[in-house]
Amino acid sequence: MRHFTHLRDLTFHEIGSIMHQVEAWKAHPPDDIFSNKILAMVFFNPSLRTRLSFETAMLRHGGHAIALEVGTGSWNLETEPGVTMNGNKPEHVREAVPVISRLADLIGVRSFSSGLSEIDDERDSVIQAFKSFSSVPVISMESAREHPCQGLADMLTIREHINSPRPKVSLVWAPHIKPLPRAVPNSFLLSCAAMGYNITIANPMGYDLSHSVIQEAQNLAKQTGSDIQFSHDLDSAVKDTQVIYTKAWGPSSSSAPSMNSLMSWVTHERHLELADPRVIFMHCLPVRRNLEVDDSVLDSPQCKVIDEAENRFHIQRALIHFLLSHS
Ligand code: CP
Repeated sequence: MRHFTHLRDLTFHEIGSIMHQVEAWKAHPPDDIFSNKILAMVFFNPSLRTRLSFETAMLRHGGHAIALEVGTGSWNLETEPGVTMNGNKPEHVREAVPVISRLADLIGVRSFSSGLSEIDDERDSVIQAFKSFSSVPVISMESAREHPCQGLADMLTIREHINSPRPKVSLVWAPHIKPLPRAVPNSFLLSCAAMGYNITIANPMGYDLSHSVIQEAQNLAKQTGSDIQFSHDLDSAVKDTQVIYTKAWGPSSSSAPSMNSLMSWVTHERHLELADPRVIFMHCLPVRRNLEVDDSVLDSPQCKVIDEAENRFHIQRALIHFLLSHS
């Protein structure tokens, strides 16, 4: 049985095969490949794209998807082992996950970072608990460390718009009203390294990605020939780039400047003008207009965020098929 919760769960060869499968099915959609199959989606956090793209992938191909919203539509779940459950979480994953996996063929889990520490994100304890207690494949719908389906959908979007085997891409930090998790930028970096793309990560001082994710990306890059650069200067990071990928994430240091003092990091039309003439703009969504990204960028022809969101469906359809074929 295979799970897909981190990019490292797939080999380079499997990533390539999934991309080819996606491209073939985009041209000629398959029939009822998920007939009688049920995906249970467990949401600890809200979603628009992830829920809709997983659900439509199942429904369009003869299957069914059931969303369980932890703490609202279904019981609040305890995930820590060995605790006395005298608080507001009446059910433990130790029972809940085996029950779900008796009744469904595949489990999707969304559980964001607690924001407590990088060590906590690295443990990825909720998704690890689901993997431990499930007897069916588990697929990440974004966890503390990674959002791997988003990462692969982003790679597909770049392949479709940039005709180069080794595009030059820039992952750029943006301001936000709150410190967002780093799962999306982590997955974008890891996926670019696995695809052999050349990537520059630009962020203010005190907003670095975690050492462990950078180390993993550098190990991938050694195998694929990807070049990874780091910058604290937004203008130089986007110069001549073919992809600007904007994302807000929280500080890595307690001495980091506050986000509202960093408004020069809002992605603006000016940054598109500094880039390669064929540049595309990407963002995983949801995006806060004129806080993370200026209207002039989001409303430009270079903006591919809707293609990117649709590609979640295509990537996940192929991933679900891959996991069910290996269970
Ligand atoms: N990009 C993404 O995962 O969107 P949702 O949070 O709406 O699912």
